[in-house]
Amino acid sequence: MSAVHFEHPELLPAIVGACEETTTGITRDRALARAGKLAFPIIGVNEGLCKHLFDNRFGTGQSAWDGILRTTNMNIAGRIVVVAGYGWVGKGVAMRARGLGAQVVVTEVDPVKAVEAHMEGYQVMPMLEAARIGEIFITCTGDAKVITKEHFAVMKDGAILCNAGHFDIEVDVQHLRNKDPQHHEVRHNIEEYTCDGKHFYVLGEGRLVNLACADGHPIEIMDLTFALQALSAEYLVRHQESLPNELINVPEMIDDMASRAFLASCGLSIDTLTEEQRAYLSSY
Ligand SMILES: NC(=O)c1ccc[n+]([C@@H]2O[C@H](COP(=O)([O-])OP(=O)(O)OC[C@H]3O[C@@H](n4cnc5c(N)ncnc54)[C@H](O)[C@@H]3O)[C@@H](O)[C@H]2O)c1
Repeated sequence: MSAVHFEHPELLPAIVGACEETTTGITRDRALARAGKLAFPIIGVNEGLCKHLFDNRFGTGQSAWDGILRTTNMNIAGRIVVVAGYGWVGKGVAMRARGLGAQVVVTEVDPVKAVEAHMEGYQVMPMLEAARIGEIFITCTGDAKVITKEHFAVMKDGAILCNAGHFDIEVDVQHLRNKDPQHHEVRHNIEEYTCDGKHFYVLGEGRLVNLACADGHPIEIMDLTFALQALSAEYLVRHQESLPNELINVPEMIDDMASRAFLASCGLSIDTLTEEQRAYLSSY
């Protein structure tokens, strides 16, 4: 969104609106909106329930592990897995790690998310402590330098590092490259870095492990995400005269339509409120 606003402003007059897919993108759009610089309305598709509840959580939860398993062919049961960030992606990755039998450690900066992780039964601690005990690290934060030199300094020899969140800056791979310019691929998509006498293994160059080392989300998950994208694009076109140049939530009826279509595709049906129930639930 920044590129079109600042590098190609000549395109702006022709743009009706945009649909934003990612958590990271929403963060940038919000900053543009706060600065009053948005030139068209944006629907924050990532904030739609049928996007982040399923794509970020179940999609990444499964496909990140698909990437790790395909690439390493390791037994996960009994391993200590450190998940950085307990947002939607982190919840999915932690949940599937537990399903594989791992001991899961969560690191967070948000106290509420940390309480959630604790209540879920995961160990919660700062990364500097987790770095000492972890065997497999998966960053899910959208942040930068979540695992960096101070953590490498205390990490175990042989630790495996990967990222399911943002770019290849969540794990500070550049630091490892500087330490070991001769690093090499020991197995497809696994680079070995020697750093202060220890070996670290980075999957998919620290890029999104589910895309670099696997096929991304399953199609059923993307069906929901793209349904929201398509219906949001239609909404922008139909309401273009009345929408402000702001970051807009996915209209509730779009989540409703997409989830009903998904249920139907699974051969599932649900109950409907009776008039009496509707009146009861809306009375004071
Ligand atoms: N791999 C994929 O296919 C995929 C899919 C969806 C989203 N994503 C990306 O994953 C990232 C996370 O998405 P989300 O929906 O879970 O976002 P979210 O905002 O729900 O969660 C991010 C969490 O990380 C925490 N965090 C931030 N900095 C941290 C730090 N230094 N240490 C520990 N915790 C930290 C935040 O407090 C927050 O709880 C985003 O960059 C998003 O674009 C990737």
